Amino acid sequence: MKLDRVIAVRNRKTVFRDGDRCIKMFSPDYSKADVLNEALNQSRIEETGICVPEILELVCQDGQWAIVSRFIEGKTMQQLMNEPNADLKTLMERFVNLQISIHQHTCPLLNRQKDRMNMQIYQCNLDATMRYHLHSRLDMMPRQNLVCHGDFRPSNIIIQENGTPCILDWSHASQGHPAADAARTYLLFWLDGKITGAQNYLNLFCEKSGITKADVEKWMPIVAAARSIKGNEKEREFLLSWVRSADRP
Ligand SMILES: Nc1ncnc2c1ncn2[C@@H]1O[C@H](COP(=O)(O)OP(=O)(O)OP(=O)(O)O)[C@@H](O)[C@H]1O
Ligand SMILES: [Mg+2]
Repeated sequence: MKLDRVIAVRNRKTVFRDGDRCIKMFSPDYSKADVLNEALNQSRIEETGICVPEILELVCQDGQWAIVSRFIEGKTMQQLMNEPNADLKTLMERFVNLQISIHQHTCPLLNRQKDRMNMQIYQCNLDATMRYHLHSRLDMMPRQNLVCHGDFRPSNIIIQENGTPCILDWSHASQGHPAADAARTYLLFWLDGKITGAQNYLNLFCEKSGITKADVEKWMPIVAAARSIKGNEKEREFLLSWVRSADRP
């Protein structure tokens, strides 16, 4: 395993290229269960026919786990959006169409969205009353069993040279409601400071999916609380202020 070609550095993760293989290496303090869960999710998604990098191997080297997958040539949608003459409208359309196409799939053995969210609400830094309200709100939300990526954002999509999109990073995948997945993507644009992008995204998602904005908005406090257990202090405060300002069910 050659680790001299770094592609991306993240908090507690580094992504390397070794020929036609991609190595996602996790820091020693990263939960082994989380690494295995990410690899398992990705393998399950591979079986649905959605285009994802094929998992080749799981490795543990000096206490550091790594997922080895096929390296995908191309540019991420984020890179394409950042290019000087980017056609943002067309790219956003493609982005939304792709997310909706994922929501057409089922994957019965994938983790359940509501189970994940209940666990994340339980872990988040809110008082017991607030958490109780969020658990109740979640309980009342409609149940669905469609594949949701859970971290659907432009940096997680590679457009290959033949134009086919390949979707990365399935650590947050679950089977659940597409409206919750859309609420998550909306919040991700916000957290990235892309407020206009967030509005454009939501308008387009609702127009194309037939899901109303009100239905997506109902998921926002739940999704914000669930997301707050990840990320830095500033993000956490922002997400929790979002939760606190929401109406109670
Ligand atoms: N199989 C692959 N082929 C080519 N590039 C890859 C592959 N996997 C990851 N990358 C590159 O590494 C970057 C980070 O990978 P990935 O999204 O899996 O990690 P992450 O820690 O979850 O990142 P983020 O939090 O930004 O989503 C991607 O945006 C992409 O540029
Ligand atoms: Mg990613």
